[in-house]
Amino acid sequence: MVKIAPSILSADFSKLRDQIEIAEQAGADWLHLDVMDGHFVPNITFGPIMVEAVKKMTNLPLDVHLMIENPDDYIRGFRDAGADTITVHVEASRHLNRTLNEITKLGAQVGVALNPATPTAFLEQILNDVNLILVMTVNPGFGGQKFISFMVKKIRFVANLIKESGRDIYLEVDGGIDKLTTPTVVEAGANVLVSGSAIFGAADIAKALTEIKSSIPDPEIS
Ligand code: DX5
Ligand code: ZN
Repeated sequence: MVKIAPSILSADFSKLRDQIEIAEQAGADWLHLDVMDGHFVPNITFGPIMVEAVKKMTNLPLDVHLMIENPDDYIRGFRDAGADTITVHVEASRHLNRTLNEITKLGAQVGVALNPATPTAFLEQILNDVNLILVMTVNPGFGGQKFISFMVKKIRFVANLIKESGRDIYLEVDGGIDKLTTPTVVEAGANVLVSGSAIFGAADIAKALTEIKSSIPDPEIS
C-alpha cells in the first residue's frame, strides 16, 4: 500500500485550510510539513506554532520533516504541537540513537532522513529504532527541484535492507516526486511519496493528486 503525503511547502498559505481539505478529499494519506531553520538548510519555513494550527485543520496524520540543527532541543515542542511522525536528519544529529529514542518516548512515529550524498551504512545500526526511513531525492531546502535519478539505486538498496530486517518500516521519498517519477520510485520500493509542487503547485490540486495516485503501478495501489 503506497501512501501519498502532500507537502504544504508549495501550498498557498493564505488558503491553507481550503487547500488541505481539497488534498484530503482527493485521497491524501498523510500531510507532510517541512520545518527549515536557515542553518541546516538555506531556507526558513515554520516551527511548532504552524504544526499546531495545521493540526486543527485536518484529521490526516502529520508527517513532520525536521531540517534543523539540534533537533533534540525541539522534538518535544513538535510532538506537543501534534506531530504524528517526526523525522530527523542523520546529518544533524550527533547522537542519533538518543534522538530516535527520545522521539519514541514521546509517542510519535520515528523517522530518519538521509541527504542524497549520505551513505546508507549507518542504517544497519539504527534499523531497530525507526518506523520510517526517508531517502531524499533532492538536496533539502526548496520545493520544485529536479528529482536526482541516481537515488533510485539507493531506494532499492534501502528497500532490501528493510525487507531483510523483517521489520515494518516505511520507505519514504521526498523531492521531485510527480506522476512521471512515481512509477520509478515505487518500483524501487518506496511506499510513502512526498510531493509538494506537483500537488499544491498545480492549478487543480485534486486532479494533480489523483494523477499521481493513478501513476502508482497496479499491484502497489492503496
Ligand atoms: C524539500 C522538502 C520537500 C519539498 C518537496 O527540502 O523536504 O518536502 O516540499 O517539494 P517538491 O515535491 O516540489 O520537490
Ligand atoms: Zn520534506
